[in-house]
Amino acid sequence: MRITPMTANAGASVSGIQLAALDDAELEALKRAVYTHGVAVLRSQSLSPEEHIAFAKRWGGIDINNYFPLDGEYPEIAIVRKRADQQTNIGGAWHTDHSYDQVPAMGSILVARVLPPSGGDTLFAHMGAAYDALPDDLKDAVEGLRAFHTADHVYALDGAYAQTDMASELRGQEMKTGATHPVVIRHPRTGRRLLYVNPSFTIHFEGQTREESLPLLQRLYNAAMDEANQCRVVWEPGTVAIWDNRATWHNALNDYPGYAREMHRITLSGEALAA
Ligand code: SIN
Repeated sequence: MRITPMTANAGASVSGIQLAALDDAELEALKRAVYTHGVAVLRSQSLSPEEHIAFAKRWGGIDINNYFPLDGEYPEIAIVRKRADQQTNIGGAWHTDHSYDQVPAMGSILVARVLPPSGGDTLFAHMGAAYDALPDDLKDAVEGLRAFHTADHVYALDGAYAQTDMASELRGQEMKTGATHPVVIRHPRTGRRLLYVNPSFTIHFEGQTREESLPLLQRLYNAAMDEANQCRVVWEPGTVAIWDNRATWHNALNDYPGYAREMHRITLSGEALAA
């Protein structure tokens, strides 16, 4: 098993293993790579839906997604799909999956099933690197702060997706979500400090309005989006990416008009977050 960093601060290419036939030591090494680098990218994988589910169960618990279409046969698998005739994609802005849950999902295992001839890459940004690189005045400003996260403005019946051609695909639009988390968390497994706010789901700091919160949030986002914190996953048939939601943001690029893209996602259960 070979683990090669993709960039100075984010991502690792992992080769020499098949996810469907990992031994326990390889699984532990892969988990460490994901917790450390934020995302692991594996090529030439052969993973049936049953093997995808079995691998996720070996990693830990599975969170069933409330919004995306589910594979009818396999409810553990959420379909992240854009048809050739659609304009909108799912996840096409920087975000951290499930930050609006009280116990946010640990991460996801995304399997490429249908890809456009080019484009449709996914960007990842490492929030440990983002925190480390903050200037001291920003580190001081976020110390001890907590922030409120929700998905209602994105997925609800009057939310952002409801105005788009993705509206009919989504479920759960009547659900209400909301959770408050520290702005800087410690990674539950590595102990590294991580910036834990994101442009899609973080609304305001605890005790402040949205308007009061926006200037500092925007400074944090601008700093976190620095290309030095990022890596880019270019999908190929057989590519699987496994990422850690606590340690990363991601952004699915929507630059393949007229082509379909379909990914199968299993969301892995997380643990309580703390500063
Ligand atoms: C997502 O989970 O946000 C989608 C990622 C992707 O489709 O690349």
